[in-house]
Amino acid sequence: MQFSPIGHTIISLPSIDSTNNYAANLLNETNVLNGTVIMAKNQTKGRGQRGNIWEVNPDENLTFSIVLNDLKLKLNHQFLISIWVSISVSHFLKENLFIENVIKWPNDILVNNQKICGVLIENSVRGDNISNSIVGVGLNVNQQVFSDGYSATSVKNIKGNSIDIKQILESLLIYLNRYYPLLKSTNNELLFEKYYECLLGYKKNINLKEEGVVFKGEVVSVAPTGIISIKKEDGETKDYSFKQISFIL
Ligand code: BTN
Repeated sequence: MQFSPIGHTIISLPSIDSTNNYAANLLNETNVLNGTVIMAKNQTKGRGQRGNIWEVNPDENLTFSIVLNDLKLKLNHQFLISIWVSISVSHFLKENLFIENVIKWPNDILVNNQKICGVLIENSVRGDNISNSIVGVGLNVNQQVFSDGYSATSVKNIKGNSIDIKQILESLLIYLNRYYPLLKSTNNELLFEKYYECLLGYKKNINLKEEGVVFKGEVVSVAPTGIISIKKEDGETKDYSFKQISFIL
């Protein structure tokens, strides 16, 4: 039988501040096997992108982190990790649960313009290489009501029934393992091909916002650094890093 590196070991916790924090502490204290997964039923201080908090109901959602420490990735290729996890989640939702979705750059997964999954990747760097990466995933599963002003949805809101969270993790791991060889490959063409297939606004006009100004443009490409290239309606192409541009849904 083929070895599946992602999730060969699953540490299951009832409650923790953040699975990303737990993974970071574990890496400090001991040798962690590549692909170890830490999942928690409840996070008391879940963290999101840009220093935000990731606050979801206990016991109702999938929150886990994957430790990767066998990647031979240069820091300027860090976005490949993001692509790997987002295409895995996107294909899992589409093919396993029949939920249509898109990836909003950099790595949010949206269903009907509402967020169903967020990803927080924290890398440790040695020289210009990534020595290890903690890939935190928050997938909304059985929660039905979200905080005001937060446009989110869940598997239950779409499918109508509750789903076992452990079962969701097991199925998602199949997809993470399926696409892992693409992340490990020295040729990242296929990884990008898969990303573009799922990416919101790829070669399609969408509304974007830069410094408060809304304009129309389309995604031309995304670099392995994560920098996105946008072609504006007037024909100008401009590169943006995180925080410099947002998508208007
Ligand atoms: C985002 O802001 O979209 C990213 C959310 C990431 C949440 C997950 S839940 C598991 C892991 N542990 C954390 O504290 N955050 C990530």
